[in-house]
Amino acid sequence: MTKDGRFIFLDSVSSTNEEAKRLGREGAEGGAVVAARRQTAGRGRLGRTWESPEGALLMSMIVMPDQNHMDKITRISLAAGVAVLHALDSIFEECSIAARPGLGWPNDLLVDTKKIAGILCEAVLDCDAPFVVIGIGININNRVASLPEELRKISTSVADLGNSEYSIRAALEKTALMLDNRIPRVVERSEEWSDTLKVWRERCVLIGREVMISSPGVAPEKAVPTGIDDEGRLIIKTQNGRERAVEFEETTLSR
Ligand code: BTN
Repeated sequence: MTKDGRFIFLDSVSSTNEEAKRLGREGAEGGAVVAARRQTAGRGRLGRTWESPEGALLMSMIVMPDQNHMDKITRISLAAGVAVLHALDSIFEECSIAARPGLGWPNDLLVDTKKIAGILCEAVLDCDAPFVVIGIGININNRVASLPEELRKISTSVADLGNSEYSIRAALEKTALMLDNRIPRVVERSEEWSDTLKVWRERCVLIGREVMISSPGVAPEKAVPTGIDDEGRLIIKTQNGRERAVEFEETTLSR
């Protein structure tokens, strides 16, 4: 383990989110970031496994929201998506990648239909100073060809798009800075929340396209997202023509 200011670097860890939660419970400060070269039990949303090959950015940041605004911590997840989007915008520009990253519901970063990054936000509330861990995995230098077969068609990486490598340290610092700029203010101020919604409305690549909506224990359903409401929920039009807002479901683009 090495430490450089607020950054803690690990060679191998089960999951940077687990490590960040452990450190947060022990009193680590908001803004602390755990990064690892490898994860042996990387986790995705809904209990899925997150493939964590070397060359990917694997990081988790501890966020200590103002305790008077804990009712708004769900905003952090959407704001984290925007922070990672802006980090990728900047990385793509530096790597002369012409494609534009976009947002997928509830918290994916996509290039066309392919996933380049995922985010797993977890709240730790059973302690004196409740906090949130934002876990981020970005495919930077790991090549899609080395991923398991079932992920190859649905994933991409900075190296695959730009055909050159990018510094993981620079990607880490850029992403941390974008998170600092937006979070935790987004829970306190309506301006930051409005801006987060604006970016989602502009850059969500699912709007107007057919998706499958799924949640555990419920049969997947075809729908077309039509927008994002003021609470940050995805509005979908289902096959019977009715519109409703979804909050916790997952979406997959019909290819
Ligand atoms: C998803 O798309 O399902 C979310 C993936 C989140 C993966 C990152 S990698 C760093 C951090 N540690 C984890 O165990 N998961 C997150």
